[in-house]
Amino acid sequence: MGKARHRGPPAAGPASGAANSGPYPRQKRAPPAGDGGSGGVVSLLVWLAAGVLLSVGGYLAYQGYMERRVNTPLAAPKAADPPAADDRYWGSYRPGAYFGLKARHPRSPVTGLMWFTPAMFQGGELPLRHWCEQGDGLDRYGWLQHDGRHFGVQELVDKHIRLETTFVKRPGGEHGGDWTARIKATPKTDELNGIQVSLLYYIALDDEAGPEDALATDAAGDTLRAVHGTSEALGPFTMSFHVSSGRLQRQFYLAARAPGLHQLRETAVRGFRLVQTADQRYIGLVGEMFGAGAERTPNFVVFQAVAAAPFELEVRFESGSASAERPAPLGGQLYDLLLAKHREEFARTFERKFSLAQKGYSAEELRFAQAALSNMVGGIGYFYGSSLVQSRYNAEPVPYWPASLYTAVPSRSFFPRGFLWDEGFHNLLLSQWDMDISRDIVAHWLDLMNTEGWIPREQILGSEARSKVPTEFVVQRNSNANPPTLLLSLNAMVRRMGSHPTETDRDYLRRLWPRLRTWYAWFNDTQTGELAGSYRWRGRDPRAVNELNPKTLTSGLDDFPRASHPNADERHVDLRCWMALASSLLADIGDVIDEPAQQYRRTFDFLADPARLDALHWSEQLGAFADFGLHTDSVRLVRPPAPAPDRPGQRPPPPPPGLVRRADQQPELRFVNALGYVGLFPLLLQLLPADSPRLARLLDNMEDPRGLWTEFGLRSLAKTAPLYNRKNTEHDPPYWRGPIWININFLAVRALRFYGDTPGPHQERAKQVYDKLRHALVRNIVKEYKRTGYVWEQYNDKTGWGQGCRPFTGWSALVVLIMAETY
Ligand SMILES: *[C@@H]1O[C@H](CO)[C@@H](O)[C@H](O)[C@H]1NC(C)=O
Repeated sequence: MGKARHRGPPAAGPASGAANSGPYPRQKRAPPAGDGGSGGVVSLLVWLAAGVLLSVGGYLAYQGYMERRVNTPLAAPKAADPPAADDRYWGSYRPGAYFGLKARHPRSPVTGLMWFTPAMFQGGELPLRHWCEQGDGLDRYGWLQHDGRHFGVQELVDKHIRLETTFVKRPGGEHGGDWTARIKATPKTDELNGIQVSLLYYIALDDEAGPEDALATDAAGDTLRAVHGTSEALGPFTMSFHVSSGRLQRQFYLAARAPGLHQLRETAVRGFRLVQTADQRYIGLVGEMFGAGAERTPNFVVFQAVAAAPFELEVRFESGSASAERPAPLGGQLYDLLLAKHREEFARTFERKFSLAQKGYSAEELRFAQAALSNMVGGIGYFYGSSLVQSRYNAEPVPYWPASLYTAVPSRSFFPRGFLWDEGFHNLLLSQWDMDISRDIVAHWLDLMNTEGWIPREQILGSEARSKVPTEFVVQRNSNANPPTLLLSLNAMVRRMGSHPTETDRDYLRRLWPRLRTWYAWFNDTQTGELAGSYRWRGRDPRAVNELNPKTLTSGLDDFPRASHPNADERHVDLRCWMALASSLLADIGDVIDEPAQQYRRTFDFLADPARLDALHWSEQLGAFADFGLHTDSVRLVRPPAPAPDRPGQRPPPPPPGLVRRADQQPELRFVNALGYVGLFPLLLQLLPADSPRLARLLDNMEDPRGLWTEFGLRSLAKTAPLYNRKNTEHDPPYWRGPIWININFLAVRALRFYGDTPGPHQERAKQVYDKLRHALVRNIVKEYKRTGYVWEQYNDKTGWGQGCRPFTGWSALVVLIMAETY
């Protein structure tokens, strides 16, 4: 479950993308003919022909221009620096792999781990682990410590063994220096001592690697001593393999040509054979494997150690340009020392930033919080490629320009790629940990803006990423928005700059400014509603007959109930609030860098004006803010009746498949009275003044167990709402219709803290709800981590159990900030 969240949008319906409001070109008619004699007829014909040619030509040019806009980059200086070979050059930038390192370069070779235990092999397919797959059923896995720059420590618990993967980097030379990775395999129980384990470590060239990139093996028999290579990204290098003595049984290797980075596992599987010795059988790699007549230079080399656990494999990567400065190999005790030093430093920095020990959290809770942060930091990826995009001017999807993206990911197993709306939440935490990393990430995202000011909301870049997404969800449409949550991160950054921004701060904001303005204008032009100050998410499909309530994927809240019959009269209160936040932030940034910002301030004042907000969105009946639109609550999914036969006596055709929606009442223009996250937005984004009379009702609803309150956090939709916990189609389980989501709960806690700190009639109450909610969230997420080994995508509102996908150390990791009370 949980796939729906990031699915591609349905094709824009007729009433959705203000489809007819744009300057859509119609073929112009030739000017009406004047009356005239025969000479006039000739000239009339000439005129006609010329007119037709001109207008056809003009139309084609215009059409071509419009077709190209969707994948034309914004003409503005890039906000992100090109990656330098610094301490962030190498990293675990392949979040979808259990363990893999590569460099921040569009064509970096990739390295990574695979493993299996023959004990798990029960015929059928070899259980070779590689990608983070939920189906592998690992008890748990994730980074326990990772600082995003120097080192990382990860634990993975499989059926029979426990793996610890660590790496340490050492600067030097011109290509990011050396690193060593260590993989320690330990039996899970004493009885399993000596269990045979195969650890495989590989290096593979990028799909787009140029002719200068090459790998060569230094092998004797089955033993691969080292891989020597050279590449545009890394210069010359050597990778060598060392297994702790005494435990090694056999080693093998593979040198092959893989058809692409998404086919590494398949290629390795093809490279295995059975090796029978006097007393043992091994599943081992064959050595060289090249098709007849194929090129005999490998782009994929794998080392395999077969050993009795416990044992360790050490992989050393040595950069050729660092060899002059290398005091000693980074291995053995030197490695132990450096790793210990980084771990201590990490723990110190963590405490300095979040003060959890000082706040009285237990050692166990501290380890949990470090792991939650580390898995977000260790889940940062570096992707390169182009999205597939489409505007209404394109008959077919077209490729976006190739671009790199440095970004965190929501989930290493299920969503190992960039998502616009998640990323703003990620950076609330990342910016507390390492401001430079966070700034770089935000800049990368803004650099994905096209000339219209649009940013595709899901980034599927490169063959590794593409292979994880069903094709029908790949294409991104430029009519569709996604909440501009990056502004939340920027807002937090700007607040921390305070009244004394440094010159570096200002430079950064100046670089972002043209992009922010364009982005804002895109929202303010394309997502507006019919009334002044109203906004409407595009991309809802009024013809979605199988959906109980047509989804609003663009809002990020997918199946949260909106108006039952999407049309242009709709107004969405969450989008209005995002626009208010955007307006105030652009005004603030404009002030910091001395750019004219009055128009943003004025728009903010207009959008946040309590009376105007009330007029468009306050539902007295609900006691909360609400969407408005063509709506009825009386909808249900029914099996469609069998169509009547064409002729009497004939057998009727079969009914259409699936349930379809039936409205038992005519929809009317009204508020959508469904109490839930959407109705809290003016509070969540802190737009209400502290003395707003609306706060009291909203707090009531937050504290009411029949409303949003649960002892595990705020549920997304109240029990009293008509669609509470209802499926959206025959097969789509409820998603934002009850479960507890941590990103919105984070906003709630943060806002309660704000109202608790601000003098006003509701201050005391806000303080109380703040404490209650904060403790409920922390208690449950930590408890579930202990019980299941994972941080989850959502939490069940009745049991508190983690559900959806896992590990989900995207925005659910914001629990670290809730523990630290750093907002
Ligand atoms: C946003 O759009 C509204 C009209 O739809 C306009 O009045 C307002 O000035 C715009 N704001 C900015 C900052 O451009």
